[in-house]
Amino acid sequence: MMPEENFPEPPATPHKRRKRYSGKNPRRFEEKYKEHDPQRHAATVAKVIASGKTPAGTHRPIMVAEILAVLAPKPGDIAVDCTLGHGGHSQEILARIQPGGVLLGLDADPIELPKTEARLRGLGFGAEAFLARRSNFAGIAQALAAHALGGADIVLADLGVSSMQIDDPARGFSVKLDGPLDMRMNPQRGQPASALLEKISLAALAALLDENSDELNAAVLASALAGKKFARTSEFANAIRLALPHIKIKDATLSVRRVFQALRIAVNDEFSALDTLLRQLPGCMKPGARAAILTFHSGEDRRVKKSFDAGLRAGMYAAVSDGVLRATPAEQHSNPRSAPAKLRWARRAEN
Ligand SMILES: C[S@@+](CC[C@H](N)C(=O)[O-])C[C@H]1O[C@@H](n2cnc3c(N)ncnc32)[C@H](O)[C@@H]1O
Repeated sequence: MMPEENFPEPPATPHKRRKRYSGKNPRRFEEKYKEHDPQRHAATVAKVIASGKTPAGTHRPIMVAEILAVLAPKPGDIAVDCTLGHGGHSQEILARIQPGGVLLGLDADPIELPKTEARLRGLGFGAEAFLARRSNFAGIAQALAAHALGGADIVLADLGVSSMQIDDPARGFSVKLDGPLDMRMNPQRGQPASALLEKISLAALAALLDENSDELNAAVLASALAGKKFARTSEFANAIRLALPHIKIKDATLSVRRVFQALRIAVNDEFSALDTLLRQLPGCMKPGARAAILTFHSGEDRRVKKSFDAGLRAGMYAAVSDGVLRATPAEQHSNPRSAPAKLRWARRAEN
């Protein structure tokens, strides 16, 4: 036996082996340990971005230059990011409102919010400049009041879900990765998509698919899916495909995406949250303040357009965007998730 002093000292924190994965490269979200740690593995992350993908556990902010041009952040501004997400837009705004500015970042998601708060703190934004609050943006007025901020100079909302949420199968948003059929931005509130489907009537599901995502096969799909029990996303996606045996695979895949989107909107009550935000918005903006809203489908864009146009007619807004701004072809190529994005803006009247 070797004398005891020949054994190496045990490390202070025992070395943890990473989980093994099959094949040359990790495929599963949780196996992509390099992408989850961009500070240590910058080269891998750069390669993933160059290939048109979003590194696991992150989100690539969309139309940053256009949004900054519209919001025109300046030192001392009070900003509200209604949809903090990974904090990509917030990070850029925060850098431009110093010294003296404050950004209040809202997000409904209790899982991602603390990670983003820690990330932005790590970039040097202390509590005097950056406030993170778990809140639905329908509560924007209450959130401003709770932090004694008065009105905002800048308001941003980048609607929908983040890449962190879509790419994590455990959240149940992904049409490609198997996971529980959940889809809640805040898994501590409300009911998962599986429970909604189990309870919904055929007529209500058909209306939901039509209203939330203009699904062409709403009636057929509703009769195949309403009142049924689906625990997993893959099971649900297969049932959608099976209900559409006579259409091309490509078109069935589009239907799967639209049904997932419609269900996600219903589970999170997204339209009513957006309507409440739009109603409260002018009252939360200082004279001359700017608001920008990034939408990802027609149901959202219609609401924003209608509300901004009505605010302009009522004299609450001095100017609103004439049409929508889109991501450049280069951005759409490098980040396909930017392709459907539409940006609208409004400027509060001076009185
Ligand atoms: C597209 S991501 C925002 C990404 C962010 N702009 C960035 O650069 O990282 C949308 C985020 O808004 C959040 N969200 C969606 N609807 C919300 C609501 N009604 N209230 C609060 N947060 C919401 C989601 O949880 C998600 O984190």
